[in-house]
Amino acid sequence: MAASALTAAAVFLLFHGGVLGFPAGQFTRDEPACGYKSCPATKPSMLNVHLVPHTHDDVGWLKTVDQYYYGDRNDIQHAGVQYILDSVVQQLQEDPARRFIYVETAFFYRWWKQQSAKTRQVVTNLVNEGRLEFINGGWCMSDEATTHYSAVIDQMTLGLRFLNDTFGACGRPRVAWHIDPFGHAREHASMFAQMGYDGFFFGRLDYQDKGRRMKDKDMEMLWRASESLAPPTADLFTGVLPNGYNPPEGFCWDQLCSDAPIRDDPDLEDYNVEEIVKKFLNAANEQATLYRTNHIIMTMGSDFQYENANLWYKNMDKLIRYVNAQQSKGSKVNVLYSTPSCYLQELHRANLTWSVKTDDFFPYADDAHDFWTGYFTSRPALKHYERLSNSLLQICNQLEVLGGSESRRGPHGEGDSDTLKRAMAVAQHHDAVSGTEKQHVANDYAKRLSIGAAHCQVLVSNALSKLSGSDAPRVYCENLNISMCPLTESSSKFSVTVYNPLSRSVSWSVRLPLNGTRYSVTDPSGREVDSQVVPVSQATRDIRKDRGYAVNELVFQVQAPPLGFSTYSVSLLNDHPPPASPNPGVPLYLQNKFLKVTFDPDTGLLSSLSNLETKQTVQLKQNFFWYNASVGNAESSQASGAYIFRPNSSTPVPVSLNAKTQTVQNSVVQEVWQQFGPWVSQVVRLYQDSRNLELEWTVGPIPVGDYVGKEVITRLDTNINSSGLFYTDSNGREVLERRRDFRPTWVLKQTEPIAGNYYPFNSRIYIKDKEQQLTVVTDRSQGGSSIQDGSLEIMLHRRLLMDDYRGVGEPLSEPGEYAKGLVVRGRLLLALTPPAAAADTHRPLAEELVLQPLLSLQAEDMHPNAVLEFSGLQAALPPAVHLLTVSQWDRDSVLLRLEHQFEAKESQTHSQPVTVNLQKLFSTLEVVGVSEMSLAANQWKDEMTRMDWKGNTGEKPLKRGTGDPSVWEVTLNPMEIRTFLLRMRHR
Ligand SMILES: *[C@@H]1O[C@H](CO)[C@@H](O)[C@H](O)[C@H]1NC(C)=O
Ligand SMILES: *[C@@H]1O[C@H](CO)[C@@H](O)[C@H](O)[C@H]1NC(C)=O
Ligand SMILES: [Zn+2]
Repeated sequence: MAASALTAAAVFLLFHGGVLGFPAGQFTRDEPACGYKSCPATKPSMLNVHLVPHTHDDVGWLKTVDQYYYGDRNDIQHAGVQYILDSVVQQLQEDPARRFIYVETAFFYRWWKQQSAKTRQVVTNLVNEGRLEFINGGWCMSDEATTHYSAVIDQMTLGLRFLNDTFGACGRPRVAWHIDPFGHAREHASMFAQMGYDGFFFGRLDYQDKGRRMKDKDMEMLWRASESLAPPTADLFTGVLPNGYNPPEGFCWDQLCSDAPIRDDPDLEDYNVEEIVKKFLNAANEQATLYRTNHIIMTMGSDFQYENANLWYKNMDKLIRYVNAQQSKGSKVNVLYSTPSCYLQELHRANLTWSVKTDDFFPYADDAHDFWTGYFTSRPALKHYERLSNSLLQICNQLEVLGGSESRRGPHGEGDSDTLKRAMAVAQHHDAVSGTEKQHVANDYAKRLSIGAAHCQVLVSNALSKLSGSDAPRVYCENLNISMCPLTESSSKFSVTVYNPLSRSVSWSVRLPLNGTRYSVTDPSGREVDSQVVPVSQATRDIRKDRGYAVNELVFQVQAPPLGFSTYSVSLLNDHPPPASPNPGVPLYLQNKFLKVTFDPDTGLLSSLSNLETKQTVQLKQNFFWYNASVGNAESSQASGAYIFRPNSSTPVPVSLNAKTQTVQNSVVQEVWQQFGPWVSQVVRLYQDSRNLELEWTVGPIPVGDYVGKEVITRLDTNINSSGLFYTDSNGREVLERRRDFRPTWVLKQTEPIAGNYYPFNSRIYIKDKEQQLTVVTDRSQGGSSIQDGSLEIMLHRRLLMDDYRGVGEPLSEPGEYAKGLVVRGRLLLALTPPAAAADTHRPLAEELVLQPLLSLQAEDMHPNAVLEFSGLQAALPPAVHLLTVSQWDRDSVLLRLEHQFEAKESQTHSQPVTVNLQKLFSTLEVVGVSEMSLAANQWKDEMTRMDWKGNTGEKPLKRGTGDPSVWEVTLNPMEIRTFLLRMRHR
């Protein structure tokens, strides 16, 4: 053992119970009988029916999260989570046999804060005895199609940490539980496995898939959720619940239901015990034909149920008593109160070999014309705001660490990262970033993010003051996308600090709205930087309206060091003529050192893209179209809505056959401005040093005066020979292959040729052939497809006139700031490469788009001794490494996640193990102790054990040791994320 390793182990004796390198077992003490140990006895010779009392509490949907908590606005929907928890805790005390599971920590946290010491003790006892069990336990039950893995890991960490801090080991959920999300992502399964869950249950999958699985008794399986991580790291036992998450028909005893209670007094009217028992035995035996063991699960609850838990428990008590009484007469059915983990334990004991699944559960259809593929794009502005907020939160977390305690309280006031952490966690809910909530609830999510952002901005200002030595006020211009920033519009001299959250140096182009005609821009070392002034386009002025008055934009390239900042100074130079107006008409091409794009002189549309380094060219025609949203027809009454995408024709309508164009070309950037009509425009943009082409699209207000709902796409038509295949990422991480009109695990009967081929993507979608790959990297989650070979289409925006009957009760028609319909602007980055080199381009590109630099502006002169350049790292990390998390955990420790951001086979250069030395990581912080944790940081890695499951792959799963060279040097394998708690000292 190296000397440094010995030191580490010694330090860690003080830090947590386990010593590095020693088995954890020797530290176990008498634990309360929670978890698997508290499971009720079952009967091996009988069919055991596990009744799982549960409530499904949406963290916002028809009402805001707080309205749901309090039971406010019951006129919209009768639902009050505080009463549910009050009532359940009462009812659990009545009988030790009763069980309840609770899932959404956002609500439990709100409730716990308000409880007396006495109630808290009662609840703690219930948890310690396994009578109240936390399942899943994230802040919310995240959406799986439209969330980014970084935010999902954060929201799970937040929820699970609260449970561990509050209840210790008995608060740690063993089972992941996504009973409502509308399709299931492979990356979610991979994350759940790495978080230490033993199993996963869900309710929704394609109706054809479910039919096949019911027929083949294949409702439960082993999901192998990564092609890169060595099994069983990303293996997750996965079960499909029989009735979604509802009770079997006739057995809903909530106050929200109207099924008959058990009327068991023979002296009274309508005695129904025999009838109910018979009906229940039928339901149980029928369900048992679909599953492989002598255990089945019944979810006894639904949305916001158990507000008056007595109704449920009183009837279930009787059900159990009367059904089990039949055993003396030969019945072989045994009913019991149970939990998903107790059910899972029985499946594990059955010691069967399960089928192995390697693809995912998208798209989800619940009938032939009912594909839930619209929400991949619904509310594109909220989806983008959520993504930007994630970037800000990571920066806020990093600067809280780098700036030390002064970042929370400093010259700019009191700031914190907690508010944005909670707002982001709420926004991951499956009716939040998914876009399937009511409009007022969407507004509430955005408001929470914006309040969180304000708290973070104070923290960031304090930290930057500390690190730079300049206390001058800082301004954050959040509307640069529509050329608005009061400070730059009115100042002749200011400075711009660019903070880079990535672990490598990046260069980025900055555009600032202003009114002068020529400026001097200098970098931190005082060197002049090439800058250009371009006029603000009419398209931008039309969106901005009277919210700003800049006539020009200053464009220049900035560079910022790893995990650090650079400060640039900008000052107005007088007496310069205004910038040249854009040239009317279309250029033949735009070109820099790396790329060339050509335009069709007749239509103004893109016509080709060339990579000048690899000498590749593809034909590339790009245009905007809309699908006419179905309002229902003779085949099906299904309309397009917030969830469902159903075009009434497979042929989309072009917004325009040609674009009116203008051109701007200078030494920093070349742009073609394309106008496709009054509500669609685009800028085709090529920066001087860029290897990708930027398409900045603007769509809206989508006109609906013709009473036609419209779903707007952009389509890229190429001559790439893609043979029906295209590729989409899963939650921003591993990529899955998609084949048109095909599903890997069942014979698909395709009933919706467009909607049934749509898949979610979070950061990239691509097509390829042997020679070339066209990758589109996006700035937010969207739906996309390849309907023809060589073609990629991306849905950008939707405005609909009908509700789609999935409960939200509103047509998706966002009003926007002027109530005329929402205008949305976004960016797609295009790269053309040989397939073998594609990941080397799109992985870093996606990383740069997800974690964008933060600009802060200062009007006052910088202090002469101010630090203009700073890096929090000693050196850039290798390109394969992504610094996923740097976040203050408690006073002396920091949570660190290092990620290998390449898949096992996708890059010749980067798909290799890579080693990082933790002690050589930070420039201003000394790492004095380290301990590895599970992915959600609620368990020490060396204490993490999971149930092992046998899959029908024939191979034996191997446990791969991490093989670290020393305690401080950690090795990352492709797609691996490693989570550490570091004990830190400021140098
Ligand atoms: C879990 O919480 C307990 C206190 O309840 C604490 O001692 C322990 O260190 C925590 N575990 C982790 C992994 O944070
Ligand atoms: C599980 O099944 C295997 C055969 O597949 C057998 O070798 C093993 O002993 C069984 N384990 C238990 C605990 O029954
Ligand atoms: Zn839900």
